[in-house]
Amino acid sequence: MTPSSITHHNKLVTEPCTLIIFGVTGHLSRNKLLPALYHLEEASRLPDEVTIVGFGRRDWSNEQWSEEVKHALREHARGGLDDTVFARFTQRLHFQQGDLQDESSFEDLKKRLENIDVFPVNHIFYLAIRPQDYNYATRNLVVSGLHKEHNGYCRLVIEKPFGHDLESSEVLNTQLHKNFKEEQLYRIDHYLGKDTVQNILVFRFANLLLEPLWNRNYIDHVQITHAETAGVGGRSHYYDSAGALRDMIQSHLLQMLALVAMEPPANLDANALRDEKVKVLRSIRPISHNAVNMHAFRAQYATGHIDDEAVPGYLDEQDVAHGSTTETFAAMKLYIDNWRWKGVPFFLRTGKRMKQDNFLVSIRFKRPPQQLFKDTALQQMEPNWLLINIQPEDCLRIEMQVKKSGLELETQITQLEACSCDNTQKIDAYEALLLEVMEGDQSQFLRFDEVSWAWKIVDPVLRSWMEEQDYIHTYPAGTWGPDVSSRLFDSNDQFWRNKLDAKNCDT
Ligand code: BG6
Repeated sequence: MTPSSITHHNKLVTEPCTLIIFGVTGHLSRNKLLPALYHLEEASRLPDEVTIVGFGRRDWSNEQWSEEVKHALREHARGGLDDTVFARFTQRLHFQQGDLQDESSFEDLKKRLENIDVFPVNHIFYLAIRPQDYNYATRNLVVSGLHKEHNGYCRLVIEKPFGHDLESSEVLNTQLHKNFKEEQLYRIDHYLGKDTVQNILVFRFANLLLEPLWNRNYIDHVQITHAETAGVGGRSHYYDSAGALRDMIQSHLLQMLALVAMEPPANLDANALRDEKVKVLRSIRPISHNAVNMHAFRAQYATGHIDDEAVPGYLDEQDVAHGSTTETFAAMKLYIDNWRWKGVPFFLRTGKRMKQDNFLVSIRFKRPPQQLFKDTALQQMEPNWLLINIQPEDCLRIEMQVKKSGLELETQITQLEACSCDNTQKIDAYEALLLEVMEGDQSQFLRFDEVSWAWKIVDPVLRSWMEEQDYIHTYPAGTWGPDVSSRLFDSNDQFWRNKLDAKNCDT
């Protein structure tokens, strides 16, 4: 959490509210939202007056929905389901049958919410639905008047992807702004709620030590790698028209880049923070059509093994179009043309069905200017790395060289490390972000200019890949992606850093 939101959470300055979830039977609700709300209950972070309404097409009573929630929690709650906590949690759950496309369903919802003894007048509508349904949901909120802030607030939480490209994101934004003020919109990027991601800010701006080194004079390049062992699972329908560049790089990885590269904000209020991120995004050198191959690489997983178990290739996944060239691995090289970073490449890389789950920011420093040890056994020394592991481990590590003890002048790498091993304090990104919506803190949510600049960066690549639909590189599931992706590097001594511990591509 940012220092500001840490203070907020401790004070729990949350007014009573009704959280209405659209898409309550979907993947996101079952896997993330309901477990996050349950964990907040368990940790006594959810104020008593918070009520949760599931809105969906099923003809369920409150009790039936509650049973469904119980199933989801049995599968996804950290450390299993606690009956006492669930008994408390279930008191908050209400089900409202309805169809997103049907105006009268919204009239029914509105009537139900008028019972303010049960449903607090502050409303949060969470759009955990397919992007193509956003229009129906928001239009019907407006037609029924549920968007108005007569007695309490009305907030809208919008999941990524926000649009499909620059143009569609602008259309969506204009439509929303016809009826909603910016203060009502919470464009969520769940990565911004992750503890270690927020630690990037604290690490950078609460310590003076690194600031003099954090620039083009000392840093050779930066890598941001997100690797998952999971495939597309049941989400091929969405994923096949999205691909890795939209799904991970446009949204999450560009935000990580902005946090690593931004200047210190004037203060921690929502706009100061976002202003600085936007400055970074708008300084990224645009990729021209001719330069796409030098700056971007894509590939798709083929059949392979994950943890010794055979898994199908992407083209054999359910609902994937025949001969699809959708990328499940994407890598980009970007330059930030500003005073601090001019000439330093930032490599972003993401892939599904990779060898390991890992999200790692790796910052490689330059080699010392004088090869003082060139006539000794040392020859060339390893450069320093600063590694920020976001998941599965929360860890900050600096690799340095020291002399091995003994008569010879030999070195070994030593590590300065800060790992957060206190799992009892762990809070999931969705837990933190849901609390922030309730508190009205927008600092960890995206402003439209951030989204729009991120689309401007990836749009030329997306357009070029759309035109080239006859070939895509493949990689066996369970590997680190094709070796040829290293063609993005500028020099022979750059290589993908896959893990905290090892530097070789195939380890
Ligand atoms: C989502 C993407 O935004 O992030 C998924 O749509 C991806 O494809 C997921 O798997 C990764 O999130 P996390 O928090 O599990 O790393």
